[in-house]
Amino acid sequence: MASTTDIFKPELFKGKVLLCSGGGSGICRSMTEAVVRHGGKAVIISRSLDKLQKAAKEMSEATGGEVIAVQADVRKPADVENAVAKTVEKFGKIDYLINGAAGNFLAPFQKLSYNAFRTVIEIDLMGTWNLTKAASEYIKASKGSIINVSMTLHYTGSPYQQHAGAAKAGIDALTKHWAVELGPFGVRVNGIAPGPIENTVGLSRLATSNANYSGIPLGRAGTVTDIAHSTVFLFSEAASYISGHMLVVDGAHWLTHHTP
Ligand code: HXC
Repeated sequence: MASTTDIFKPELFKGKVLLCSGGGSGICRSMTEAVVRHGGKAVIISRSLDKLQKAAKEMSEATGGEVIAVQADVRKPADVENAVAKTVEKFGKIDYLINGAAGNFLAPFQKLSYNAFRTVIEIDLMGTWNLTKAASEYIKASKGSIINVSMTLHYTGSPYQQHAGAAKAGIDALTKHWAVELGPFGVRVNGIAPGPIENTVGLSRLATSNANYSGIPLGRAGTVTDIAHSTVFLFSEAASYISGHMLVVDGAHWLTHHTP
């Protein structure tokens, strides 16, 4: 990931604690690394402990900061409760939460099984709700901030994406409900809706083999650094009056109705 401290103050998140689901790879790893590069500490969670521990070690070495791995399946309330407890045990509080754990694949309606649809709803939508439910009292106590990772494919009813689209539409709704309900406690809740982001599992699963980016008005795929910058902005005081907002970071891609 390219440096993000050349834009924002290097100690912007000094003393802050982040809990991030899906933080072991791709977009969510870059979001975590950006917070740690700015002085924060982080706990990353996902199902695959080996992958998580490797990512935590690499991020700690790259930033000189503290990143801890905790195994958790966001579909299981006991797992997310444990992840929250471990975070508080280690760092004493939670300031920031990123809900990024997701599962996705292209599947036409008739090939999408009952279990496949339910699985994606459970990982993306239920996982976001479960982790936020478990962490919410701590986020309230710290007057913290939440970022939910969404997407743009449900804005236009993109084919083969109804499972993820339905889940992300639910996440967009939760973002608004939580912004309203948690706002009086000083908590800001926003989302980031990435477009095609190069070198990510999401893009490799969703892009067609002849993908090109000529249909994207800004003429390129996004990078994980683009998402990292948006994360730093939304968690920072620069966004102190922004809540309930879904920040689209896609080079104006979804407005063109093209698929990559
Ligand atoms: C059709 C599929 C499928 C596919 C799995 N299934 N892959 N159906 N096409 N390609 C079906 C299975 O057959 C099964 O249904 C059901 O889904 C559950 O699959 P399992 O493998 O048993 O579940 P699980 O191990 O929990 O895996 C979840 C998963 C998996 C979502 C299916 O792919 C996963 O864990 N992915 C995590 C990583 C990931 O997807 N990252 C990308 C996120 S990108 P049956 O009926 O057979 O039991 C993203 C943003 C996109 O979300 C936006 C970018 C622009």
